[in-house]
Amino acid sequence: MNDPRFEKVEHHLSELFRLEDEALKQTEVSIREAGMPEHSISPLQGQLLFQLASMTEARTIIEVGSLAGYSTIWLGRALPSGGRLVSIEREADYAELARINIEKAGLSDQVEIRSGSAMEVLKALDLGSRKVDLFFMDADKPNYVNYLDWALEHSRKGSVIAADNVIREGNILEQHSKDEKVMGVKNYLEKLSTHPRLLTSIIPWVGIKSYDGMAVSMVK
Ligand code: DHB
Ligand code: MG
Repeated sequence: MNDPRFEKVEHHLSELFRLEDEALKQTEVSIREAGMPEHSISPLQGQLLFQLASMTEARTIIEVGSLAGYSTIWLGRALPSGGRLVSIEREADYAELARINIEKAGLSDQVEIRSGSAMEVLKALDLGSRKVDLFFMDADKPNYVNYLDWALEHSRKGSVIAADNVIREGNILEQHSKDEKVMGVKNYLEKLSTHPRLLTSIIPWVGIKSYDGMAVSMVK
């Protein structure tokens, strides 16, 4: 599902607002060169994450799914000095590429890529007294609900919990999908929709990443 205008408009807006610099562009190039899935967020989504992190004055950010570090760069750039971003990537070779891209973006002091299973890395994380200001999940859809539980436990009032790919080309309309990613995000949306501590906006996207959406929740 993609009208050719959607992609053109997204490129147009990305250029109009000068969203991508060399570090971001080269991160996308590195994904193609490595033959990795082209699943990074788009520039417009990157700007949204940057804005959310800035609005919440995020000092502690957690990301699940670094891929090659594209969204990680957007989020890392919103941190004040002394801020910290831990991004978790299950695939060791993706994690290594993400580290290289983060280094090239000049963010190594504040951004750490940890390789491993996200739930295990999260459980072992020592946050001290810090709360998570922004949590972004973009991998391992079947475990989205579990990441949500962890994020809520470590959130404060006003923290943001965002999740990519919650529309999946409309496949969430299927009541019983055989696709575990679809079921993962359906369970996630169900939980968001009734959660007393969360206020959620769903932002549908069309464009360079086909038809999908991001859930942006605020902790009350
Ligand atoms: C998939 C994962 C993503 O994070 C994405 O943005 C698009 C697709 C996937 O696993 O299918
Ligand atoms: Mg995604």
